[in-house]
Amino acid sequence: MPVALIVLAAGQGTRMNSDRPKVLHLLGGAPILAHAIRAGWALEPERVVVVVAPGAEDVAAAARAWDETAAVAVQQAPRGTAHAVLAARPALAGYAGDVLVLYGDTPFISPETLQAMAAARARAGIVVLGFQPADPARYGRLVMRGDRLERIVEWAEASQAERALGLCNSGVVMADADVLMQLAAEVRADNAKGEFYLTDIVALGAARGIAATVVLCPESETLGINTREELLVAERIFQERMRGAALASGVAMPAPDTVVFALDTHLGREATVEPYVVFGPGVTVESGARIRSFSHLEGCHVSRGAVVGPFARLRPGAELAEEVHVGNFVEIKNAILGEGAKANHLSYIGDAEVGAKANIGAGTITCNYDGVFKHRTRIGAGAFVGSNTALVAPVSIGDAAMTAAGSTITADVPAGALAIARARQETRAGLARRLMERLRAARAARGGGVGET
Ligand code: UD1
Ligand code: MG
Repeated sequence: MPVALIVLAAGQGTRMNSDRPKVLHLLGGAPILAHAIRAGWALEPERVVVVVAPGAEDVAAAARAWDETAAVAVQQAPRGTAHAVLAARPALAGYAGDVLVLYGDTPFISPETLQAMAAARARAGIVVLGFQPADPARYGRLVMRGDRLERIVEWAEASQAERALGLCNSGVVMADADVLMQLAAEVRADNAKGEFYLTDIVALGAARGIAATVVLCPESETLGINTREELLVAERIFQERMRGAALASGVAMPAPDTVVFALDTHLGREATVEPYVVFGPGVTVESGARIRSFSHLEGCHVSRGAVVGPFARLRPGAELAEEVHVGNFVEIKNAILGEGAKANHLSYIGDAEVGAKANIGAGTITCNYDGVFKHRTRIGAGAFVGSNTALVAPVSIGDAAMTAAGSTITADVPAGALAIARARQETRAGLARRLMERLRAARAARGGGVGET
């Protein structure tokens, strides 16, 4: 049975006390919304629709950035969860199959739970994800009759006896698309909040002979983020999971508590991650590569056998081939380093291509920015760039070419050539000694001591 995903993200999120929409706050280096969408990927959805508030261009952009297939639907006013689901209806035109509804602020629903929900669709028209929280607080309550879900009652409307029920609604629900949309359209806002409650579809369905059932999950999965404090709790949980998963998949990581992961960090088997490494979004480290302490990586790819750090920074677009070495205080941005290339000390390599086995001397800088435009630098295979070379882009260094230490290279260097672009050295015999004598004599004439300047 095909599945479509609707992710609700049109709520206000006022408790974050932030100018930024709640679902765009970062968890594991990625918007909370990205976690919710990717949780839904477990069911390989045919379509993904994210429901946003009017004018929430930034939320729409984040949705598309983290799922390029995502359609964005606008809910004109926040009139309740059923109203939000209906806003997704046009985006599902022509679709037949099941729909899974998730909340954009609920990042941890597991693949196993979603698979259990999909399986439960065989025995009921509507499947609701329930949980038994330590403190049921103001969650909607699930009113059961045997193993059937009879209705969901929101806390505001619940009787004393209903509030005493420990079984709560997570908000995650799955049903056939037509059934879901038809029932959602029948929901009325005749309740305490004057909202269109999606939860009402259970009772409406029951009246039409559509059965509903409940799948249970641990409370930890339904954790929704409403405050900055809850975001911190979620971050801790997220990091713990990523560290555990990395270790289980065969990554060597002697101090996991000091390593920070992002949502999409991929580490190959036998990769080594030393203490105090930060992974921003979009990092892939292949098997056998080694990320040494105090390195910061984002949007980059590190191939087998490469060594990065200690104290290295890989920025978006850094692509390191096998056996590349990037050492301390080296920054790489939007640059491809060919197999076995080395930049071991104190360099900036940006907007560049570096050929295989090229050696970048300490202190080399690609001067890629002229104040308005960015320009590229090409360094050929086997080239040797002398220490403290400034490569003023656009410029290219040919295969097996060299630059002399301290050169400022403004013109292309052909293959095999040596470019020297610095003042020629002058050496004057005895001048240092004579200069010092003159200075000391001047001090004695003033009566000693270190004079004021
Ligand atoms: C909802 C459930 C409740 C459940 C709880 C779990 C309903 C009526 N109630 O309550 O049974 O226990 O979640 O957390 O569904 N949203 C929109 N547009 C709207 C309203 C909400 O997109 O008009 C989105 C929100 O951004 C949020 C989600 O839907 O991601 C849930 O909305 P929220 O207002 O938090 O619902 P609750 O009152 O918590
Ligand atoms: Mg809520």
